[in-house]
Amino acid sequence: MTVSNSSELKRQIERRRTFGIISHPDAGKTTLTEKLLLFGGAITMAGAVKSRKASRHATSDWMSIEQERGISVTSSVMKFEYRDYEINLLDTPGHKDFSEDTYRVLTAVDSAVMVIDSVKGVEEQTRRLMEVCRMRNTPIMTFVNKLDREGMSPLEVMSDIEETLQIECAPLTWPVGMGKGYKGTYDIYRKKLTLFRAGFESLREQDMVTEISDLSDPRLDELLGSQADDLRGDVELLEGAANPFDLDDYLKGSQTPVFFGSAVNNFGVKEMLDSFVEIAPCPGPRKTTTRTVSPDEEEFSGFVFKIQANMDLAHRDRLAFMRICSGKFQRGMKVKHHRIGKDITMSNPTIFMAQDRELVDEAWPGDIVGIHNHGTIKIGDTFTDKEPLQYTGIPSFAPEHFRRVRLDSPMKSKQLHKGLLQLSEEGAIQVFRPINDNIFILGAVGVLQFDVAVARLKAEYSVDASYDSTPYSVARWVRCDDLKKMAEFEKTQQNNLAKDSADQLVYLAANNWDLKYVENHWPEVQFLKTCEHS
Ligand code: G4P
Repeated sequence: MTVSNSSELKRQIERRRTFGIISHPDAGKTTLTEKLLLFGGAITMAGAVKSRKASRHATSDWMSIEQERGISVTSSVMKFEYRDYEINLLDTPGHKDFSEDTYRVLTAVDSAVMVIDSVKGVEEQTRRLMEVCRMRNTPIMTFVNKLDREGMSPLEVMSDIEETLQIECAPLTWPVGMGKGYKGTYDIYRKKLTLFRAGFESLREQDMVTEISDLSDPRLDELLGSQADDLRGDVELLEGAANPFDLDDYLKGSQTPVFFGSAVNNFGVKEMLDSFVEIAPCPGPRKTTTRTVSPDEEEFSGFVFKIQANMDLAHRDRLAFMRICSGKFQRGMKVKHHRIGKDITMSNPTIFMAQDRELVDEAWPGDIVGIHNHGTIKIGDTFTDKEPLQYTGIPSFAPEHFRRVRLDSPMKSKQLHKGLLQLSEEGAIQVFRPINDNIFILGAVGVLQFDVAVARLKAEYSVDASYDSTPYSVARWVRCDDLKKMAEFEKTQQNNLAKDSADQLVYLAANNWDLKYVENHWPEVQFLKTCEHS
């Protein structure tokens, strides 16, 4: 390991921010993304991201998803500059295209922004995504959205976040009123009041901001009327009762700084973005099976966290998304693909801009690079200059939906086998084979994955397949150090056990009740919600 003394490498690391947005559908992720891109100058027109989303969600069958493919790939990673920072925003697909990819993207980020709808509070998908963030203690910044509507009070929203998500909240801005009475936000630390004007969208701070040196300033009464005293009261209360912002706690993932605003009105977004670039972490060290790798090591390394298939149907082309973890990446460089023991040349690496993708000559830790391949790359694969490393923390997530595969073209069982193996290696679907039965059970985190699997089996492997229901709704990987106990467990529970495509043993249960019952009876056995790729 050589730590680079190249100041260019260090500078490039320090100016990079790689993050994802976690939210429940309709909380405002697309709208916020669009505003961030506008500030970054990456798009010039409001509605650019929105219309993309609309066309994406109007599609439900695979072939039309296919037609949209070029677009959805482009929006998988959005790179933009803001001030002197290079920002990589990784899309976490929601709505119908919620899938294991949504979870896995979060293994490739350095921090996340959580969007909460102030009317609805913390919702289900946010809770699930937060669990994934917790696995790596990912720092989370919170944007409480839709303050222009009557919703929960700011204190109620914060206590909902604290109770439901078990993370401490530290407000950095504070709203004045809400709904029709929404007047603006007060930046607690910078002591600036930003006045709200619905529908008025300006990218220039001076259009809306009034600096207030002291809350007793009479201008506050002129600007806010009777709500000036409400703000004074709130801030006094916060000074006594709220958690002060603590950078270390944020970076450890135990505290979330909270911002309030209205994404659709582009209000409160700039304050958050300014704080984000200043306090969100740049690429940091990452663990491998043998050691922790620092981003400023000279030797290049990166891992694959997502594979997009069918970029070009005629060539069975696949695009692997690689997160760079250390060193400088250069087009044309030769790297080691350790799992298959081969050297590969990075001849046509792609980088993703907000509305485009283009060939990239060089990239740095934190950047995401797309590599074309024909099915040789698996999720979790690590590439380096020389040292045989394997990054950890890119797991499979326990599926939440299950289907039994029915082969409608009986002569094609070999192709079915091959197709399913390939799809599982790409992370498109999980495949289980019950130890007692010669059938395939597919598992997914989002149900659209099933439609995609059937359509791809037909298009790429000429296999006609359909689905039957299964009695299962929960899966856990099982481990036990006591081999005798494990053998006993396997024998008595064989009707609920299956092997995944990497031959790992999985327990399939009808529901959480049944799982709990078995867990209680077998305290020596571990039931795991995630399983590492290796
Ligand atoms: P998502 O990506 O998280 O699913 O949410 P998205 O941004 O698409 O926003 C969902 C809906 O919430 C949209 O309305 C959007 O306009 C609205 N929205 C976003 N931010 C705010 C806000 O600050 N205040 C209010 N009042 N609404 C907001 P829609 O009716 O589904 O779409 P549209 O017809 O408005 O485009």
